[in-house]
Amino acid sequence: MRKRVLPYRKLKDDFYETLKLTCSGSVLFVPENLYCIDYAVRYMPGHGAVIEIGSFLGMSTNMIAHYLHMHRRDNRFFSCDKWEFEEKEMNFYRQSLGISPENMKQFVKESFIRNLRFFNPARLPFTIELFSDEFFQQWNSNTEATDVFGRKTPLGGAISFAYVDGNHQLEFVRRDFENIDRHLAIGGFIFFDDSASFIASGMRGFMKEMNRKAGYKLVLKNPNQLWQKIKQ
Ligand SMILES: C[S@@+](CC[C@H](N)C(=O)[O-])C[C@H]1O[C@@H](n2cnc3c(N)ncnc32)[C@H](O)[C@@H]1O
Repeated sequence: MRKRVLPYRKLKDDFYETLKLTCSGSVLFVPENLYCIDYAVRYMPGHGAVIEIGSFLGMSTNMIAHYLHMHRRDNRFFSCDKWEFEEKEMNFYRQSLGISPENMKQFVKESFIRNLRFFNPARLPFTIELFSDEFFQQWNSNTEATDVFGRKTPLGGAISFAYVDGNHQLEFVRRDFENIDRHLAIGGFIFFDDSASFIASGMRGFMKEMNRKAGYKLVLKNPNQLWQKIKQ
């Protein structure tokens, strides 16, 4: 019997094609995610912020910034990452490459800054160097933060779209959801990377919990999932 491959939806996009070839970290971003970003950015409420958890080298950050521009949405855009990698990754950097975790962190963070400055110089997000739990503590208390580009910005307020791609373990994904849900506007979206049914991850595990939430509806499964908040 032939295995059936679902025709997942992709967008033709020259900006993406260019980044795929030239922006480091593009391998982590599957092109089907663009379809979900496009949908969320088009239909999200106009007043809230866009938040990305887990920026790495900036591929998804660059794509979100580009789609905000394309759809003429002027929602504020924030991302957070501390670029502190998991134990097994740090061991790999140390043992296989002979590079210390501190040097690798510095390299990835500097590459992120360069990638954003190069591809979206006029649309830089406010990227805060924090784990998502720390970021939301500051968001909840309306703190003023300084981003990695050296700009001060107030945190806090409603959220219109959240792109979740930080720590993929179930309890972290659940906490990211709870932190976002507290601020997500009705009509706002949450996208979970690596939540496809064929990817073993805490993201996929958390989708079972999303299915039981009365206030949310699944709007796209392409194959990662995009959810919309429909009531409090
Ligand atoms: C898969 S990568 C993100 C890829 C990126 N979204 C893209 O598509 O180009 C995951 C990133 O999440 C970050 N991360 C891990 N735990 C995190 C946490 N608790 N809060 C924020 N970021 C986290 C890691 O440092 C890493 O850069």
